[in-house]
Amino acid sequence: MNTPPNDRGLPGTNLDPWFNSYAQRTAGLSASEVRALFAVASRPEVVSLAGGMPYVSALPAELITSAMERVMRESGPMALQYGSGQGTMVLREHILDIMALEGISGSVDDVVTTTGSQQALDLVTKLFIDPGDVILAEAPSYVGAIGVFRSYQASVAHVAIDEHGLIPEALRETIARLRGEGRTIKFLYTIPNFHNPAGVTLTRERRAEVLEIARRNEILVLEDNPYGLLYFDEKPPEALRASDDDGVIYLGSFSKTLAPGFRVGWALAPHAIRDKLILAAESATLSPSSFSQLIIAEYLRTADWQGQIDTFRDVYRERRDAMLSALNEYLPHLSWTVPTGGFYIWLTLPHELDAKQMLPRAVKELVAYTPGTAFFADGRGRHAMRLSFCYPTPDRIREGIRRLATVINGELDLLQTFAGTGALDAARPDSHYASPPPDLD
Ligand SMILES: Cc1ncc(COP(=O)(O)O)c(C=O)c1O
Repeated sequence: MNTPPNDRGLPGTNLDPWFNSYAQRTAGLSASEVRALFAVASRPEVVSLAGGMPYVSALPAELITSAMERVMRESGPMALQYGSGQGTMVLREHILDIMALEGISGSVDDVVTTTGSQQALDLVTKLFIDPGDVILAEAPSYVGAIGVFRSYQASVAHVAIDEHGLIPEALRETIARLRGEGRTIKFLYTIPNFHNPAGVTLTRERRAEVLEIARRNEILVLEDNPYGLLYFDEKPPEALRASDDDGVIYLGSFSKTLAPGFRVGWALAPHAIRDKLILAAESATLSPSSFSQLIIAEYLRTADWQGQIDTFRDVYRERRDAMLSALNEYLPHLSWTVPTGGFYIWLTLPHELDAKQMLPRAVKELVAYTPGTAFFADGRGRHAMRLSFCYPTPDRIREGIRRLATVINGELDLLQTFAGTGALDAARPDSHYASPPPDLD
């Protein structure tokens, strides 16, 4: 339910005795569409193409159980104790080997282990953003990053992308426009590989160009790369960080290549930034979980972790193929991106359809997706949606797309039937729901 703002312009409710006490920055805190959808997605009858949950069942439990037993037998007190604020040395060394697969050579001193890469996003934003500062981000961008940026009162300026990722010319123009307006741009946030939510990958040529633009304009780059190792055919080009140690903060994660339940990610910071990052990390959590870090380090030392990533790749490739073939069969008149790795496809709807408005009807048909508006800070994205192929089985994906086609084609039929009569305009005074329908909340 929408409630009136309090006397400082913040949303809230008079039933909350602290209504007038919240900090201004809480105005940026709102439940994301993804979060609202998780409640629906958990119902077994709904095919959820909404969340980005990795298929952890493809990881043999025995591999983790045995690593855990060895850790507890051999270093139990250390695993149960506070650790270094920067993260456990033994894991940071393994992280260097993982990043080497993407062309990065860093120093173990510059790696900071965090509570998922989500925390690294939060810490970097905290370090750099004053209210009103600008963050450049792809259009669309990761919903969880937009939430963090909002919570620090940043202003997000979206930069256009196409099937080859961020468009350098659009980046140049956006920077020039913002600087012309006297705005302060603090960093460029980018997901170069198997983008969430767009599914696209930045080409090698554009990587060099984007870095050159950032360097020339003295803009820091925040490279977020949780999916880079989950390629289906060819490896993506080397990470941006591989060719710029000073201007790129690189974020990695064990969430997609191992399991998100450990909540372990990392940042590889430019040397000049890393001390502040460690201080910020210590003040946020004292230290990341020693228990999780030691189990992951033991797993990496003893298991065929690269073979396990191959298994994940096979699983996700098969699911991507299932989704693409179902889209071709059931929705051939629409367009979508063709990801070469990762978890996501971006589906563009005919202009007259609104993905957010259509969602309750989709849920009624027992399929869920994430409306495109979740991935923009400025209300765009109504005519698009993100489809995740990571979690449901290929059969369920196929059934989900079939149901989605029923909904989309039904809406199009309706529009055609009543075109020009005004009947639908009267039924839909506003093209947005003010709040999610009750069964999505
Ligand atoms: C692009 C991107 N960045 C960061 C994250 C956060 O991942 P985690 O905190 O689990 O490492 C996600 C999770 O979906 C993501 O898709």
